[in-house]
Amino acid sequence: MNKFKPINEKCPHFLHGGDYNPDQWMNVPGIWEEDMRLMKLANCNAMSVGIFAWAVLEPEEGRFEFGWLDRIMDMIAENGGYVVLATPSGARPAWLAQKYPEVLRVQANRQRILFGGRQNHCFTSPVYREKCSIINRKLAERYKDHPALLVWHVSNEYSGECHCELCQKAFREWLKRKYDNDLDKLNEQWWTSFWSHTYTDWEQIQSPAPHGESRVHGHNLDWKRFVTDQTVDFIKNEIAPLKEITPNIPVTTNLMGTYPGLDYWKIAPVLDVISWDIYPTWHSPQNDAELACRIGFLHDLNRSFKGGKPFMLMESTPSITNWHPVAKLKRPGMHLLASMQAVAHGSDTVQYFQWRKSRGSNEKFHGAVVDHCGHENTRVFRDVAEVGSVLKKLDPVIGTTVNAEVAVIYDWENNWAIEDAEGPRKDKKNYQQTCLDQYKVFWKQGVPVDIINMDCDFSKYKLLIAPMLYMVKPGTAERIEKFVEAGGTFVTTYWSGIVNENDLCFLGGFPGPLRKVTGIWSEEIDALYDNDVNYVVFNKDNEMGISGEYKAGILCDLIHAETARVLAVYKDDFYAGRPAVTVNTYGKGEAYYIASRNEDKFALDFYTKLIEKLELRRVLKIEIPYGISVQSRTDGENEYIFIMNFNNTETEIDIGNMELWDMLDNVKVTGKIVLKGYGVKILKR
Ligand code: GLA
Ligand code: ZN
Repeated sequence: MNKFKPINEKCPHFLHGGDYNPDQWMNVPGIWEEDMRLMKLANCNAMSVGIFAWAVLEPEEGRFEFGWLDRIMDMIAENGGYVVLATPSGARPAWLAQKYPEVLRVQANRQRILFGGRQNHCFTSPVYREKCSIINRKLAERYKDHPALLVWHVSNEYSGECHCELCQKAFREWLKRKYDNDLDKLNEQWWTSFWSHTYTDWEQIQSPAPHGESRVHGHNLDWKRFVTDQTVDFIKNEIAPLKEITPNIPVTTNLMGTYPGLDYWKIAPVLDVISWDIYPTWHSPQNDAELACRIGFLHDLNRSFKGGKPFMLMESTPSITNWHPVAKLKRPGMHLLASMQAVAHGSDTVQYFQWRKSRGSNEKFHGAVVDHCGHENTRVFRDVAEVGSVLKKLDPVIGTTVNAEVAVIYDWENNWAIEDAEGPRKDKKNYQQTCLDQYKVFWKQGVPVDIINMDCDFSKYKLLIAPMLYMVKPGTAERIEKFVEAGGTFVTTYWSGIVNENDLCFLGGFPGPLRKVTGIWSEEIDALYDNDVNYVVFNKDNEMGISGEYKAGILCDLIHAETARVLAVYKDDFYAGRPAVTVNTYGKGEAYYIASRNEDKFALDFYTKLIEKLELRRVLKIEIPYGISVQSRTDGENEYIFIMNFNNTETEIDIGNMELWDMLDNVKVTGKIVLKGYGVKILKR
């Protein structure tokens, strides 16, 4: 048995609930009691409280009012529930901004914001840090022994950056540390001799600005790294009193998928449990099955942040998301399906924004468990109650994980560098989409995948895929070599091995440090206009056993096979006949290079062959119909298989003579299983 512990051992069940703002309803008598009644009816057991409650917790400086929160905590505990208790730094009270303007962020244009909005504090301000620290300590001291306290929800969706003088100074200090106080080193790594931008004094350095420096890529990268580090430092400041007073209460903060502003791999280590917020545009013109694949990728990323440890689905909407361009209702079945998808990929919770729809301000039309009508007789409420009752049947799934033999590298810093690069195409660089295009084949065939970054341990995988590994950080290529040498299979693509960690191009031939392991030299890269087409044609009798030709476009790398063997070549243009897919034997393993961006069918055929060749574990060794996702969680002994139909129509899947146990209907199933449109089955093996 190989299980993680429940998020908090106090509650060995799935958490089900959501953001609860009783502080918005202080003046409505009886409404809190009604909330408690409804929570039980909705099968909810965990409420996230206090996320934006600073103004009622500390109505004036130094005067704290916990009476209302005491009452809420008690009421939830009396009703058998738990509280995910927030620290309130996501938004500050007006008095705080008025008295200490330094807590307000300065934008890149150097203009200080006015009071308002949220998630817009200066992350360096000593005053803000101190105020957060004080109130966090008070919360921890007051509720440390409260039976309802389950998890700390630190702040809310940390994001953005501040360019105030305090931050400028901190940035310079950060740079001094990084470059060992040596300005020449910085000038060299930032290539400031370009356009005569050489710095002669640390004080000359400013954060990137639209009306100042913005084209020095090393500078941009370092600023982004600083923003992440400074945010992490801010988070640590928030966590310190919590850990000191309540060492056993796990700490999290809600992340946002692949939000590009912060490198989440740096935040993950300071959290006890990962949590994230997700608002997919179900039923949009993008087909739900394609969207589900993207969401699967993001869930896998969140599980991978802590090496497979279950995460929390901290926010999702029970019905509509009001900030989408079109706030379309979730069709019947979709709420349970989307919730179970999170569970299938490793979530031990299903939580919502929000419990009760607010009456005013900009989120008054956002989906909620309890609508403005105020009662339980709604479709959405019933959907939520159903999720709660399903979760109650899934206790054994708690703490189980996903065993992946495949990893796809999606790396934040690489993304930053790719986005900043001018050339070879201005648009359609599509780094994340390219990662997804590889992932999709595995998702469709029910092969579990981890989403990692280039600093992770590769040794536990059989197949490592690093699409567009433009930036190669020190040591990465060596670790890839070791991985392949030991028998691993590595796949990379065009536009890899181009720059170092500071965005300086590798000299001596691309793909730089990946040249040895891939056995190729990339001499040039051709960018194509949208309608330009070339073809990749597999050689007759190539060792992969793939035949035929595939459309290629957008980016075509013109490579030379050095030690690699050529599997496919380009068909057209002046590079017809030159290698388009290669494989290189390196030690006991092999490294593939895909030189061009190809049509979807290429990835399908290519990775299907690799799945067979490497005997990668598929959850069910059967044909999986389009739109069905098969995922599994395991403790090493029992396996829980989630079969999810993202088609809006009935779809059949045949499990042959396998006999599995339907955990929701409590029956044995075998042979053909019919899933209704947006239906889900959870089976035990
Ligand atoms: C984010 C925030 C919530 C709420 C939702 C609305 O995830 O964390 O406070 O604003 O969006 O979708
Ligand atoms: Zn600042």
